[in-house]
Amino acid sequence: MLKNKVAVITGASSGIGASLALLLAQQGVTVVIAARRKNKLDFLEARIKKEGGKVVGVKCDVSVREDAEELIHYAVKEQGRIDILVNNAGRGHLGSVEDTSDQVIQSMFEVNVFSLWYTTRAALKYMKEQQNGHIINVASMAGKVGYPYNSAYVAAKHACVGFTHALRQELMETGIHATVVCPAGVLTEWAMVTEGGSMMPLFSESGPVIKRIAEEKKIPLPAIEGVKTPGEIAQQMVDCILHPTPELYTHKGSKEFALLAAEDRAKSEQQQLPIVLGERQVYERVTGKR
Ligand SMILES: NC(=O)c1ccc[n+]([C@@H]2O[C@H](COP(=O)([O-])OP(=O)(O)OC[C@H]3O[C@@H](n4cnc5c(N)ncnc54)[C@H](OP(=O)(O)O)[C@@H]3O)[C@@H](O)[C@H]2O)c1
Repeated sequence: MLKNKVAVITGASSGIGASLALLLAQQGVTVVIAARRKNKLDFLEARIKKEGGKVVGVKCDVSVREDAEELIHYAVKEQGRIDILVNNAGRGHLGSVEDTSDQVIQSMFEVNVFSLWYTTRAALKYMKEQQNGHIINVASMAGKVGYPYNSAYVAAKHACVGFTHALRQELMETGIHATVVCPAGVLTEWAMVTEGGSMMPLFSESGPVIKRIAEEKKIPLPAIEGVKTPGEIAQQMVDCILHPTPELYTHKGSKEFALLAAEDRAKSEQQQLPIVLGERQVYERVTGKR
């Protein structure tokens, strides 16, 4: 079903985007892979070609409107069509609300939100002519639930979820699908390249404190599946392309937790309390506040 389709994947130089490009190319999809690090794209391009796949690498900063629009027009000019657009490029930041500068807020919304309009507006022109297509936006559980020390990213991913829902309304009965993907933890570069410093210490060093607080306060932690590989997420996205759904929750228990947060915010926050307190300790230490 996927053979000879054309997919544009942003943020394909590493992580989920790179894994998805590999899987789709193996299914006969021509993949147009985009990111800022051209050397990483070249590496992936060579690997896909070696496996007999069809691939084009495009250096592109999706937060620059002209770049993002040109990516879509170039893909269609070269490949004749665009069947799948995966808005996957994204980045987080480390910082409490009061430590978040205007520049970081701007940057988070440029890459995680504004870029959605840039690529999607351009792609819709072609998809509407074709009367089919699938737009997949990679949000996060951070688009459904609050998390600390990353507020501009959390707000941006909530915007990504809202954008997708609005887009779906406009696409009803047009033959074009839209899906928002909400992963929990994935083993990629993401937590290491966050603006304002790596978030990695918050996740890797808070474990024992979280466990102790949860035991002391007798609070059951959210029952969300642990960290998954980008390959596992990519496979779920391929399945979603074959059988489109409005939303894709990639981790067991994550949909249930998002539903709990929507239904009873205070109850879901109570389950997050040990995590918040554990991460607070690490945040205050790494930022010299403690
Ligand atoms: N890892 C997780 O735990 C997790 C959980 C939920 C959601 N997500 C989301 O999943 C998506 C993929 O992230 P990942 O986990 O695979 O992390 P990753 O390995 O860091 O991948 C992020 C990708 O986005 C690209 N990117 C960043 N800024 C860009 C820009 N301005 N223009 C173009 N490309 C840009 C990066 O490439 P260049 O640096 O080469 O440009 C990279 O290819 C992101 O939207 C992320 O927010 C991740």
